[in-house]
Amino acid sequence: MAQVSLKNVSKIFPPNIVAVKDVNLGVENKEFLVLVGPSGCGKSTTLRMVAGLEQATQGEIYIGDKMVNDVPAKDRNIAMVFQNYALYPHMTVYENMAFGLKLRKYTKAEIKKRVLDAAGILGIKDLLERKPRELSGGQRQRVAVGRAIVRKPLVFLFDEPLSNLDAKFRVQMRAEISKLHIRLQATMIYVTHDQIEAMTMGDRIVVMKEGIIQQIADPIGLYDFPVNKFVAGFIGSPPMNFINGVIKKIDGKFFFDESSFQVKIVDEMVTKISHCENKEVTFGIRPEDIYDKLFVQDAPPENCIVATCEIIEPLGSEVYLHLTSPSKKHTFIAKVGGHDKPRINQDLNLVFDMSKVHFFDRTTEKTIV
Ligand SMILES: Nc1ncnc2c1ncn2[C@@H]1O[C@H](COP(=O)(O)OP(=O)(O)O)[C@@H](O)[C@H]1O
Ligand SMILES: [Mg+2]
Repeated sequence: MAQVSLKNVSKIFPPNIVAVKDVNLGVENKEFLVLVGPSGCGKSTTLRMVAGLEQATQGEIYIGDKMVNDVPAKDRNIAMVFQNYALYPHMTVYENMAFGLKLRKYTKAEIKKRVLDAAGILGIKDLLERKPRELSGGQRQRVAVGRAIVRKPLVFLFDEPLSNLDAKFRVQMRAEISKLHIRLQATMIYVTHDQIEAMTMGDRIVVMKEGIIQQIADPIGLYDFPVNKFVAGFIGSPPMNFINGVIKKIDGKFFFDESSFQVKIVDEMVTKISHCENKEVTFGIRPEDIYDKLFVQDAPPENCIVATCEIIEPLGSEVYLHLTSPSKKHTFIAKVGGHDKPRINQDLNLVFDMSKVHFFDRTTEKTIV
C-alpha cells in the first residue's frame, strides 16, 4: 500500500523564497495524481520533497503510514523520472536499466528478469544492446521509465518527463504512461505545466499557483466548477474568455451588461448573483459555449450579441473566431464548427449558452457562480 500525504508542508529557500506554501495533499494508493501549474509555481519542489531530494522547511510527509521527513531519498522506495533523463552514455540500455539494481546488490538472475520484464512492458527489448546515442528521444525516455520500473518502487514520481519530446510523440507517450499506470497498478505523481497532459492523464489534478494549491479535483470537476478565475483560465484550450461588466436588474430580470451588449442571466444562477446588482463582476464563457447564430435554431434574443470577427483560424474539425465586442473593450474567442466560414471584419450574430457561463468576483477573483 502506498498512499502519500503532505500535511502543512512548506518550503522556503534562502534568503526568503517561498516555493511551496502550506500544502495539504493526500494521494491515494494506486492513484495517478497530476500537479499542474505555470513555471515556478512549486511543482518540482513539492515532488522533490516527496522524493527526499529536498528537505521540507515545515510540515510532515508520509509514504504509507510512515513519516519520511528524516528518511534519506535512497531509503524511500520511490523512483523518479525527470525531463532530462540523464542516461549513462557509455552504458548500453540493458546496463542503464540494471545499474540501480546492481548497486543494491540484486543477483544477476533477478536483475536480468526485472530488466527483461520492464523492457517487454515498454517495447524496447530489441534496443537492449544499444547505447543512448543510438536512440531517439522517445526511446531514451522509455529507457528512463524502464530504469524506474525495474526498481518496483512504492511510488513513481514524474517531473515533466515528456517536455523534451516533439508534439506528436508526446501524445503517444502520454497514452503509454497512462497504460503503464493501469498495468502496474502503482501510485504515481506526475508534474506538468501542460493542462492537456493534466486533463488527459490525471485521476485527480492539483492546480498550483505561486506555491499554493488552488484546487484539487477530477478533470471534469475542474473544467466545470473552477473555484477561481485562475483555474478557470488555466484549464481549457483556447482558454475561457473573460469579460468585465456590471450586473443589472431590469424589470425583475438580471442581466450581465458589458456596456455594448447585455445578456440575460439564467434563473438557476440568479439567487447566487443577485447580491451583485449594480456591481462590477467578471463574466466567463468558454469558446465552445459561443455559437454562430446562423447554426442555432430558436436562439432566445436575450442570449444574442453582435461582434466583429477579426481573425479566423480554421483547424479542420473546428474554427476559432477572434471577435471584438462593439464597445471594442473586449476581445474573445469562439470555437465553432469546421464548416463555419464568416468573412473577416464582418459583424457576426452570436449566441451565448448562458447556462454554461461563470461569474467571478472582481477583487478576490473567486467564483461567484
Ligand atoms: N534550489 C533553489 N534555490 C532557490 N530557489 C529555488 C530553488 N529551487 C526552486 N526555487 C524557486 O522556487 C520556486 C518554485 O520552483 P519549482 O518548484 O522549480 O517550480 P516549477 O517546478 O513549478 O516550475 C521558484 O520561484 C524557483 O525559482
Ligand atoms: Mg519544475
